[in-house]
Amino acid sequence: MIRVGIAGLGFMGMVHYLSYEKLRGVKVAAIGETNKKRLQGDWRDIQGNFGPAGKMMDLSGIDTYTSLDEMFEDPNLDMIDITLPPAMHADLAIKAMKAGKHVFCEKPMSLNAADCGRMLRASQNTGKHLFIGHVLPFFPEYAWALKAARSGKHGKLLGGSFKRVISDPLWIRNFWSAEHVGGPMLDLHVHDAHFIRLLFGMPSSVVTHGRQRDGLAGYWNTQFCYDKTQTAVNATSGTIDQQGRPFLHGFEIHFERATLVFEFAVIGKEGKYLCEPTIFDNKGKAKPVKLPGGDPMDSFATEIREVVTCLRQDRPSTILDSDLARDAILLCHKQTQSLLRGRSVKI
Ligand SMILES: NC(=O)c1ccc[n+]([C@@H]2O[C@H](COP(=O)([O-])OP(=O)(O)OC[C@H]3O[C@@H](n4cnc5c(N)ncnc54)[C@H](O)[C@@H]3O)[C@@H](O)[C@H]2O)c1
Repeated sequence: MIRVGIAGLGFMGMVHYLSYEKLRGVKVAAIGETNKKRLQGDWRDIQGNFGPAGKMMDLSGIDTYTSLDEMFEDPNLDMIDITLPPAMHADLAIKAMKAGKHVFCEKPMSLNAADCGRMLRASQNTGKHLFIGHVLPFFPEYAWALKAARSGKHGKLLGGSFKRVISDPLWIRNFWSAEHVGGPMLDLHVHDAHFIRLLFGMPSSVVTHGRQRDGLAGYWNTQFCYDKTQTAVNATSGTIDQQGRPFLHGFEIHFERATLVFEFAVIGKEGKYLCEPTIFDNKGKAKPVKLPGGDPMDSFATEIREVVTCLRQDRPSTILDSDLARDAILLCHKQTQSLLRGRSVKI
């Protein structure tokens, strides 16, 4: 049995907790959180943009800590699951690994590439696994695209276009603070930066144009440039100033013999496909593709199953790998630099 301590029981802490409940061979044995009400099982004030509402929980049999340092020293724990605000990820992940625990840390890995480097070195020096919670490749549409790319069944990957735009998320504290969350680049687009890195590798440079807010990228278009190939990749991301469309994401991915497309949005309170997953083949057909699931909670359970499997087999994950997550942070910073300087930036 793998015994996990969750550090930070907010929205994501709850999502992870409910995911562990669905899995075999792993259990939440401890929770570290400064909010005492939540440690007593009153999760009714937890709010997020998907999943069930928080409710009263029975936490009997789970050790609770108001001090994360004390939880990290608990000899009964194998892994610490970090679902704390981004600015806390680096130092606490390092502390947990030094205390002999494997770490599964929510995205973004950290707010800057130097901190990601420190985390990677701590993982190497302690021999502890460090998985970063990039859940997007476990969403059915992205899993479909990743599988197609890895199988090679449609021929070579030629490029793609990625989109992730939300209404200004008034519900996220410190969203527009570089020190705390990092705005839409590090909170939102990092998902696509990671997916682009996963599919196409690291580009040689990026060119980003767009508008800024408080010195952060606000809404932008990025061209990811791959000098040695004709791979054509771009992304649009950021926030709009009006409320009412809290979420939109989608892609168009080009292969030699097929193009994969989809776009999904929450408009008002209703989530719907603006374009259902569709494959255009070389025979001129547009075939809608029925994908399993659709509840984001299932994607988190699948992501955490991957963590548990890798831990059991004592191997890294090809998706939740911390080098890939560091590259995603690096890409985000280069994109911001390009937007602020108004020119192309080498990677
Ligand atoms: N993968 C996704 O789709 C997704 C979605 C939402 C959030 N996230 C990520 O999850 C992470 C957490 O976000 P969230 O929305 O759950 O935040 P949140 O604010 O809801 O939860 C953070 C929790 O950490 C607790 N905390 C803060 N400092 C603490 C300390 N010193 N000791 C113990 N507990 C402490 C807070 O009290 C709070 O309960 C962020 O990195 C965010 O980017 C990922």
